[in-house]
Amino acid sequence: MSLAFRRLEDADVDGKRVLVRVDFNVPMQDGKVSDDTRLRAALPTIKALQWRGAKVILLAHFDRPKGKRVPSMSLAPVAPALAKLLEADVAFADDCVGDTAKAAIEKLPRGRVLLLENTRFHAGEETNDPALAAAMGDLGDLYVNDAFSAAHRAHASTEGLARVLPAYAGKCMEAELDALNRALGDPQRPVMGVVGGSKVSTKLDLLRNLVTKLDRLAIGGGMANTFLYAQGWEIGASYCEKDLAETARDIIRLAGRNKCELLLPIDIIVSERLAPGAPARVRGLGEMDDDERILDAGPETISRLTRAMDDSRTLIWNGPLGVFETPPFDHGTVAAARHAARRAASGRLVAVAGGGDTVAALNHAGVADDFTFVSTAGGAFLEWMEGKPLPGVEALKP
Ligand code: 3PG
Repeated sequence: MSLAFRRLEDADVDGKRVLVRVDFNVPMQDGKVSDDTRLRAALPTIKALQWRGAKVILLAHFDRPKGKRVPSMSLAPVAPALAKLLEADVAFADDCVGDTAKAAIEKLPRGRVLLLENTRFHAGEETNDPALAAAMGDLGDLYVNDAFSAAHRAHASTEGLARVLPAYAGKCMEAELDALNRALGDPQRPVMGVVGGSKVSTKLDLLRNLVTKLDRLAIGGGMANTFLYAQGWEIGASYCEKDLAETARDIIRLAGRNKCELLLPIDIIVSERLAPGAPARVRGLGEMDDDERILDAGPETISRLTRAMDDSRTLIWNGPLGVFETPPFDHGTVAAARHAARRAASGRLVAVAGGGDTVAALNHAGVADDFTFVSTAGGAFLEWMEGKPLPGVEALKP
């Protein structure tokens, strides 16, 4: 079952001014785009619109200028980076509303692309001011939202504008929503989750939602320490949010009530030092010395996890299982990611990943391309996993 929202194919765009909300909140170094993943993600929509004779007008935010014009947060450096990928000129206007933008659009031929300046230079963007949405609406005939990764924000360019103009999901948005629906909305079962990362505190709502939806959930990374501590295991000098022990026990009980099998570590990799090449030891639970820290999942934990993947049809993954940035504490994450990728590549597992460090971890394992889908989103992916409605998506529903 696919999700109901208006799609780009349904729109007549020929000769129209199409305002496309993209997420160009990209990493920059020395005034240049240093990772163009999000630019690439927008290409299918931009090219489809060019091909179909639209005037393509791109709206985006960059960083958090808080309603002020901050020169270091200009989107200007993105235009040449996008032009290179498109192999076509990309014009730039230094405001996203008003006369400057209007004049640039007047001059824009059909099939050409214009990038407007950072929407967050206007205070009304983050307050979702209807006047700003109306001023943006004045510039176009249609609105396409291709910025899933900003869809958790109810801002003028992500939500308000969709109420002003006929609104459609772009191809990147569509691919994200369809993949997420396959993973959690209407998955093939059994469906399992892998949630890692250091802090339970940032993922409480996510864990509470997942244990009601999944058949099994593996918890790894630093956050698993809090669960082990909550169950009475010694965790030495490991990172742990001890004040959340009762909350962790609540989540364990909630999983039990919902028949979601929780997979917590059954063995661990420990060291006294977190440094590249530091000596790593395998320990059973409760076998740690006081000065040792848990830095990765142990081999038994990983083989139980990969067996669980073999028994699942769908996998949703967020967060690393250990300190993957510091080898040798990347072994658990790399082994589990490679196993999931192999199953996905052979069509036996629908494997969807996203949020925060996850993409970096999968890239480190060299397997991001083999997953069924890797989301470009951070916060939006997490909010979606928490089961929250995303304002930018809600506004696209018919
Ligand atoms: C992101 O990078 O996750 C999105 O572009 C949203 O950015 P924000 O957290 O500044 O709203």
